[in-house]
Amino acid sequence: MKRIGFLTSGGDCQSLNATMRGVAKTLYENVEDVEIIGILDGYKGLIYGNYKKLGPRDFSGILTEGGTIIGTSRQPFKLMREPDENGMDKVKAMKNNYTKWKLDCLVILGGNGTHKTANLLREEGLNVVTLPKTIDNDLFGTDMTFGFQSAVNIATAAIDNIHTTAASHGRVFIVEIMGHSVGWLTLHAGIAGGADIVLIPEIPYDTDKVVDAINKRTEQGKKFSILAVAEGAISIQDSELSKKDLKKKMKMYPSISYMLGAEIEEKTGQEIRITVPGHTQRGGIPCPYDRVISTQLGAEAAKLIMAEKYGYMVGFKNNEIVPVPLKDVAGKIKAVDPKSSIIKQAKALGICFGD
Ligand code: F6P
Repeated sequence: MKRIGFLTSGGDCQSLNATMRGVAKTLYENVEDVEIIGILDGYKGLIYGNYKKLGPRDFSGILTEGGTIIGTSRQPFKLMREPDENGMDKVKAMKNNYTKWKLDCLVILGGNGTHKTANLLREEGLNVVTLPKTIDNDLFGTDMTFGFQSAVNIATAAIDNIHTTAASHGRVFIVEIMGHSVGWLTLHAGIAGGADIVLIPEIPYDTDKVVDAINKRTEQGKKFSILAVAEGAISIQDSELSKKDLKKKMKMYPSISYMLGAEIEEKTGQEIRITVPGHTQRGGIPCPYDRVISTQLGAEAAKLIMAEKYGYMVGFKNNEIVPVPLKDVAGKIKAVDPKSSIIKQAKALGICFGD
């Protein structure tokens, strides 16, 4: 008999259900007596004791369903050791519920913050297996996170759609793509969508270089330019500001694209438009790639549970699904290397990164 708790935490993405289905189907298929509970709304459910029983039927028909059937929430890691507003010790409460529910293991699906808390629970003695979720693809220890490719498809489609209208009107368009700390999504969608300028947090940009790239296109008789700009893109000048001063400056604009757009308009005299696909990038159905990788990751997580091999994230490295010790993942970020071949190749064909 095995009793497993599923928990999805942090921002949602397209392939959460497909991944849980992969774990559940493998367990139902191979373990004689298995009970799965869905812990509701992320770590909140584990702290406050909210869950629902799940059965094989709950995992049927959800391969293509976006979002998460058990809900999610953001519970900052840095507050986990702080008592809640009623003085409740959250870590103690999570451990108590784990024991009360007689769980053999928690299966936790999430991104960076989620992994820090999962590792904390491991250190506290709970059995944990995690799965790498995020459209940002910034989890350390895995080449790919599920959700990323689906988001790339949506962000690319946004750039594709902008292409036709930008060309008709001869305008400069900025498409702002999700990613506060890393630029994987912007880089991939930018290349796939044929953006002329790609700005990511890992490569602070010089506004004049961006303006030069636009002017060069104009001189070449190209009527429009498209910029793929990550939410967390930052200019060289602004990267030298203190956090406080940067926050103050950014308050004047809804987001980085509006600030950059105003600067470009002033310096080029060209008409600028800004498009922010926002949370649509996390919505809708998972793409086939994500469905496949989610199924593989899920099946491998179930195998770890069957072997009672706990304390691992299931990752994807060098085309193999592999267990990665949770302690080696938590607290680290996988950022785009500005010297990587993908950046060099993009630069070789003339994509401007503003550096
Ligand atoms: O981590 C995923 C992500 O979608 C980021 O790309 C984005 O910056 C952030 O979440 C948005 O968070 P929220 O859903 O809390 O607005």
